[in-house]
Amino acid sequence: MKYFIQTFGCQMNLADSERIAAYYQARGFKPAASIEEADEIVINTCVVRQQAEDRIYGLVRNIRQRCKANQPRIVITGCLVGAASREPTGMLLKKMKKRLTEVDEFLPIEEVGFSYPQIRVDKTRAWVPVSNGCNNFCTYCIVPFSRGQEISRPFDEIIDEVKDLAARGYKEITFLGQNVNSYGADLIKSKIKDQRSKFYTLSNGRRVKPVMVKHLGKKRIPTLFPYLLEEICKIAKIQKVSFLSANPWDFSDKLIEVIVKNPKIDRHIHLPVQSGDDEILRRMNRWYTASQYLNLIKKIKSKIPNVTFGTDIIVGFPKETKKAFENTVKLCKKVGFRVAYIAKYSPRPGTAADKAFEDNVSYKEKTCRFHILDQLINK
Ligand code: 5AD
Ligand code: SF4
Repeated sequence: MKYFIQTFGCQMNLADSERIAAYYQARGFKPAASIEEADEIVINTCVVRQQAEDRIYGLVRNIRQRCKANQPRIVITGCLVGAASREPTGMLLKKMKKRLTEVDEFLPIEEVGFSYPQIRVDKTRAWVPVSNGCNNFCTYCIVPFSRGQEISRPFDEIIDEVKDLAARGYKEITFLGQNVNSYGADLIKSKIKDQRSKFYTLSNGRRVKPVMVKHLGKKRIPTLFPYLLEEICKIAKIQKVSFLSANPWDFSDKLIEVIVKNPKIDRHIHLPVQSGDDEILRRMNRWYTASQYLNLIKKIKSKIPNVTFGTDIIVGFPKETKKAFENTVKLCKKVGFRVAYIAKYSPRPGTAADKAFEDNVSYKEKTCRFHILDQLINK
């Protein structure tokens, strides 16, 4: 029996697909070179924007047409299944099943688990998920619904995985998480029963003080991410460590200090800003103003001389006026991003933005703003 995996979306989905491959191979399946050759096709879905979702429906129809003689089993997993199965009324799940009658199985990604080592295509660089889910509820974003609450993998499980990767010749590690730098918040909560003791013991016996971010003027959750980076850098054969995606509100001084002290950590940092306008940021439920973001960038630049930045930006968020968009352009000029992933706002069902705001910027205007930023940053 042969399987074929078609992946949509982010690096987290790519890493999940490597686990899905392991799940199939553990059951005796072999990889198929093409869709036509497969007995079972897994579509690992993304629902972050409507366009990504539409491609799933298109692909299912296309498979049924292309594989007339040998009809494969079609399995849908990933964020579409996550969002539908977590919706409390069951309506979304019903709707999805009705729309996808050609699909044989809806597989929640949690069922794949971490028990089989990922089957990685790359032999020197590895994606390593450190957490799954997100607690932030940016108003436009479906991820907290599709992937659920943030759950961190155990510290020692990650360290052991990277040690094993290093022994097998891997040299570069990219840690993945929706809010990668809040890693450990849930571990701390469950371990530190006596909140007054304020210390957390890592799996190697090291006692550390959970890191609390203060620079954005709001009380954030304590995290362990800087310690995870520190411990990984101690593994001799690992030469480079990157992480995706960090959020400004958990970018602590301790994290900056750990980067400064460890030259193995990538000097290119991906730090999604989403908008450069304070009113839009507030409506997005982001935790910072444009000037707080800029101050953070300034601080990081002053401590890490050769640092570069990447970012995510949404254009055409509801009520993004020309002036608000200009503020984003200004911020981008000040930071000098090396790369930006720019997205046109797409209302997602169930999100706060979809419920509260009308999608009032025209598609034409969104496209125009997209090109302005793309020209400015990516060309
Ligand atoms: N519309 C457009 N872009 C979105 N993103 C997340 N949700 C939406 C949405 N509803 C973008 C954000 C995020 C990236 C992964 O996708 O920029 O950082
Ligand atoms: Fe979505 Fe915001 Fe969480 Fe990123 S931090 S996954 S944009 S809710």
